[in-house]
Amino acid sequence: MNLKSLFTAAVATVFISTSCTSSKKFRYKTDDALVQTFNQNFVDAAAQYKILKRNLPSDSLPKTYFPTTGKYQFSNSDWWCSGFYPGTLLYLYQQTKDTVLYKEAIRTLGLLKKEQYNKTTHDLGFMMYCSFGNAIRMDAKPKPMYKDILLNSAKSLSSRFNPKVGCIKSWDSKNANDYLVIIDNMMNLELLFWATKATGDSSYYKIAVTHANTTMQNHFRPDYSSYHVINYNKDNGTVKQKKTAQGAADSSAWARGQGWGLYGYTVMYRETKDKKYLDQANHIASFILNHPNLPADKIPYWDFNAPGIPNALRDASAGSLMASAFIELSAYVDKTTAGTYMVADEAMLRSLSNDTYKAKYGANGGFLIQHGVGHMPQKTEIDVPLTYGDYYYIEAMVRYNMLKK
Ligand code: GLY
Repeated sequence: MNLKSLFTAAVATVFISTSCTSSKKFRYKTDDALVQTFNQNFVDAAAQYKILKRNLPSDSLPKTYFPTTGKYQFSNSDWWCSGFYPGTLLYLYQQTKDTVLYKEAIRTLGLLKKEQYNKTTHDLGFMMYCSFGNAIRMDAKPKPMYKDILLNSAKSLSSRFNPKVGCIKSWDSKNANDYLVIIDNMMNLELLFWATKATGDSSYYKIAVTHANTTMQNHFRPDYSSYHVINYNKDNGTVKQKKTAQGAADSSAWARGQGWGLYGYTVMYRETKDKKYLDQANHIASFILNHPNLPADKIPYWDFNAPGIPNALRDASAGSLMASAFIELSAYVDKTTAGTYMVADEAMLRSLSNDTYKAKYGANGGFLIQHGVGHMPQKTEIDVPLTYGDYYYIEAMVRYNMLKK
């Protein structure tokens, strides 16, 4: 990737330029002080990520850090979060022009590229589109190799689609009769839309739409909260079980899952302009924003039905990704609804930017956002920084500041 072209094209081609800012309906008037805060946050984040970089073994990607023991956890490239670190670095390079960050992003893309052939995971959208996708979007003349990597990733992801179920399989199971699909999988569809645009082959688009339709039909409850996991009959697509893996209960609303749904259906509307997806995103938004257990600072508990509320832990990563989604969604709705979304959004981003969530320089192992919850039932990554918490926080601030331009 050519530095100059990355620099000049970065702002213009970040994907919100074709989504949030293209709204003919309404442009939200941003708060100048908040824009300034976010500009400072980008500078702070660049400094923090250099600490993270210094502590990262050369063959690994960051996973988390335990503030109480000062210990890191790192991952291989096949971990579902492996794309967030290079993706965040690219966003930060876009904002700060700091070439140290850019070089680190390109180095770690090198670690990640072999995952293009990984057919054992549905997470290729997270892994490859948040990383190589950002690299392509930000470059006026993207490397042909990046395009090949993304196309192979889309092919690998598509290999997990079963037309009898109408979904991409999320998790492989020891039980061959299980066909497990999680709400998170909505986030992987953006890669498929990209692949159709890049090749003209509509099969990727069709898989994405079919997956989203099946998910809309089976994952959601009448109040538009979502189950985490649906187990399908792989031979005829009937639903065998509706359950949770990471939530408090099968019937609960796991906070990050609600965020994945919000973000996912917003992307579906952006890519198809089919109003049913916009309606779905708005319904999910309404569930989140009107929930009696959404705290005043708008950073959700790890589950909307977590035991022990108000003393339950928050999941700042859910707040980050909701904040990013609300900015895009606000561009597709009427002025009153957009105002509601953006007021809530600003509250989320203000909270994430205060000392409770945003780590001070040198703290938090170099990660940006504190107090994420990875997997409560498994008792892993509890009240720690998470790479996706950082990624969507930065993305949300990039999107917010783009509204001003
Ligand atoms: N995709 C897994 C998670 O949200 O934790």
